[in-house]
Order: sequence, then C-alpha cells, then structure tokens
Amino acid sequence: MIRIAVLASGRGSNFAALRDACAAGRIDGQMVGLFSDKPACGAVALAAAAGLPHWAQAPSGFENRVAFDHALFDAMTAVQPDLIVCAGYMRIIGATAVARFTGRMLNIHPSLLPRHPGLHTHARALAAGDAEHGTTVHVVTPELDAGPALAQARVPVRPGDSAADLAARVLQREHPLLVACVAEVASGRLQLSPVPAWCGQPLRAPLSLRADNTLGLEP
Ligand code: GRF
Repeated sequence: MIRIAVLASGRGSNFAALRDACAAGRIDGQMVGLFSDKPACGAVALAAAAGLPHWAQAPSGFENRVAFDHALFDAMTAVQPDLIVCAGYMRIIGATAVARFTGRMLNIHPSLLPRHPGLHTHARALAAGDAEHGTTVHVVTPELDAGPALAQARVPVRPGDSAADLAARVLQREHPLLVACVAEVASGRLQLSPVPAWCGQPLRAPLSLRADNTLGLEP
C-alpha cells in the first residue's frame, strides 16, 4: 500500500475522489495528509472533517517563496509519502522543493497538455476554437505544467459552451482520470521514474481514459 499526500488550494473535489477511492480499496493506497497554501479552502475542511492529518498555511506568513516551500515540503516529508498528488494546487513550486520529490509528484491539469498550460484553460480552449478539450495527469518537473504527460481524458467542446460548461464537463473526467492514474501507480504498473513507463514499457504517448474509466494506449 503506497502512502499518498495531496496538495490542494481549492474546493477539493479531486482530493475527495482520491480519498474515497483509497477508502473503497480502488486504490491500494493510504491517504497520509492534505497540504495547502489556503487555510480556508474546501480541501482543508474536507481533510479536517475526515480526521486526516493536514497542514495549511498562508504564504504571506513566510519571508519568501523559498521559505514557504521549505516549510511545506518539510511537513510533507514528515508524513513519509511515496507519492505527492497536486490536485488543484494553484501555487508554483520552486525547483529546489520539486527536487526533493523528483519522480514522485503528479499534477492534474485541466487541458490537453501541451495545449494551454497555466491558468484559464477553459476560456482559452474556447477562444482558440478547439473542437476538443480535456485534462492531463503529468509528472511534476520544475517547469510549470511541462513534465511528461502520463494520461489524458478528452471531452468535446459543444456549440454555445461557456467556460463554466466546459469546466464542469472536464471536472467529471478529472476525477476518474486521477483515480485511475494513482491506482496504476499504486499497483506498480505505472512508473514515474527514471522515465514514465507502463507495464514495463516506456510511455511514448499519454495513456487515454476510456469510457469505462480504465486506462489504455490509443490504438
Ligand atoms: C481542477 O480543475 C484542477 O484541474 C484545477 O483546479 C481544479 C481543482 O478542483 N487545477 P478541485 O479543488 O479538485 O475541486
């Protein structure tokens, strides 16, 4: 059973999906802590309600970005995670902190990377006239949203969609995508390092989330 820590800044629906999947045995993992830069966010409230260890501090209380990252990563190190999942963590993590967990951190991003890294992905997909949008789970590296993509889920863009419509459609696929990826990591089938690999073969393209919420290679 792997030890999973989650980093989150928002409402925490991805965190909740992971928590529930661990509790139900769909992930062979134990949730060991929730960490946040937003003490009042929904994810922290969910962790507190579940009696899960949590650490949440505002960066404004620290001298600088490096000091905040240092405290955060010390707190995460203390719970000895095998895997750190960034699930709606909205703060850039410095390279020194990332290096402490090289090959052991995942992020879920709401676009089909490498399209639309950064913020406002749904509005940008609409503005670009994309016919398709989606979400990506990737390995965290120091460069924002640029680490190797492990898996993606696709959704159609429909005529008349607002950014909120698209965000809701993507979010529905984020939860099963993240759960499937973490389950595959926990089982050992999906490896993050030294290079991303699935069932012993280096990943040449991201896995796809199928309709039945399993992961597979595109034909
Ligand atoms: C998700 O769309 C995630 O991809 C993005 O922020 C949102 C977080 O949602 N980075 P939640 O806090 O997991 O509900």
